[in-house]
Amino acid sequence: MAETASQAAPAIAIRDAAAHVGRSVRLRGWLYNLRESGQLLFPIFRDGTGLMQGVVFKKTASPELFERVRQLTQESSLEVTGTLRAEPRAPGGYELDVQDLVVLQAVAAAEPYPITPKEHGIEFLMEHRHLWLRSQRQVAILRVRHEVIRAVREFFDEDGFTLADAPILTPAACEGTTTLFEVEYFDDKAYLTQSGQLYAEACALALGKTYCFGPTFRAEKSKTRRHLTEFWMVEPEVAFAELDDIMNLAERLVAHVVERVLARRRPELAVLGRDTAALEKVQLPFPRISYDDAVARVNAAGGAMQYGTDLGGGDETLLARQFDRPVLVHRYPAAVKAFYMQPDPVRPDLALCVDMLAPEGYGEIIGGSQRIHDLDLLRSRIAAQGLPEEAFRWYLDLRRFGSVPHGGFGMGIERVVAWLCGIEHVRETIPFPRTIYRIYP
Ligand code: 4AD
Ligand code: MG
Repeated sequence: MAETASQAAPAIAIRDAAAHVGRSVRLRGWLYNLRESGQLLFPIFRDGTGLMQGVVFKKTASPELFERVRQLTQESSLEVTGTLRAEPRAPGGYELDVQDLVVLQAVAAAEPYPITPKEHGIEFLMEHRHLWLRSQRQVAILRVRHEVIRAVREFFDEDGFTLADAPILTPAACEGTTTLFEVEYFDDKAYLTQSGQLYAEACALALGKTYCFGPTFRAEKSKTRRHLTEFWMVEPEVAFAELDDIMNLAERLVAHVVERVLARRRPELAVLGRDTAALEKVQLPFPRISYDDAVARVNAAGGAMQYGTDLGGGDETLLARQFDRPVLVHRYPAAVKAFYMQPDPVRPDLALCVDMLAPEGYGEIIGGSQRIHDLDLLRSRIAAQGLPEEAFRWYLDLRRFGSVPHGGFGMGIERVVAWLCGIEHVRETIPFPRTIYRIYP
């Protein structure tokens, strides 16, 4: 039996349209929108790779086809065949003269797709996150996220780092005991990891330069636009690295990620309305200031920081606003930082640590430090924080068997994506965000 023209047409992705102009092609996807204008129907199709406007002309189409397209409901799945044409006025620059269309699953008119082109409130959209992901804005954000992750892996893989991931179920706290998620572990209890760092330290002493990259968990009561309870963090750790090496690595990583996103994701940044001129200013070197200078600058800019406290979100914004690229703030008071940080030999009340603050009010995107490599000092810090030494026995071993200075940092992927996309809240930067308010869908 002879194949029909429509079966013979090759299935293509919308993003590859340019290579098929003038030919008969088949698209598989969903109805994004439908416009009717007199004798003409303009269905817009999406297939996950882009949007394509179709045209059906009443005078030349069969009455059945015209009616089938006219009745299409938003997000019905379908297969459409037609001839591709360059059309500068159409979204994406091409248009499909529709010759045939098969509906795979019709969305019932009585129970229409809940997300319409009109404005919806954020609660409604979050409740429908599984569908909201199909919007052009969410697709653009997820593509930027993918690019950030790809650039991060590329950076470390090409710089001699070995990926060695840390466990998610852990016996002890890394970043303070107030944000631990406790889970039953047979007859015992365990915690969801807050950071892979302690394990990355063991791997650094085995591999020299290593990184781990995975989900991390914090039972954060914070209801800010920067906090999730589950977020992804990449954590490099380097043997023999001191604070300056850590700062150099951090700024090189961020400059690389920004450069890659600008090189590969301009169309997505345009969908998001991102001002890319601000991102183009992110060039090496980044400014570096001490915590002492940071406090002075925050207060000179109208803040009310008490010396010795951590920078709050508002303080970070006041400070970061003074620079056109990320700023590195180093040597915070040891008292406000984690137990494992190496004290500054010149001022032991300060920790050899660094936070990187993103510009435009996005706050801390990186936190890191040189680690304590002396056994007795680390022991006394664990005791002083009231942490159970038993759970850290293996971690102390790293200071018994060939201890060396070392350090690393953690970069939160969602905060970086929010900054690069120029969006208000981290909840849109991960496919299914987990926050204090929400664990559905
Ligand atoms: O500064 P933090 O707590 O550092 C650590 O966890 C270290 N152990 C990392 C290391 O040295 N290996 O977290 C690092 C980064 C922050 O700068 C921020 O980007 C992100 O993780 N982050 C969060 N992102 C979203 N929601 C939260 N609740 C976050 N908490 C931290
Ligand atoms: Mg931090």
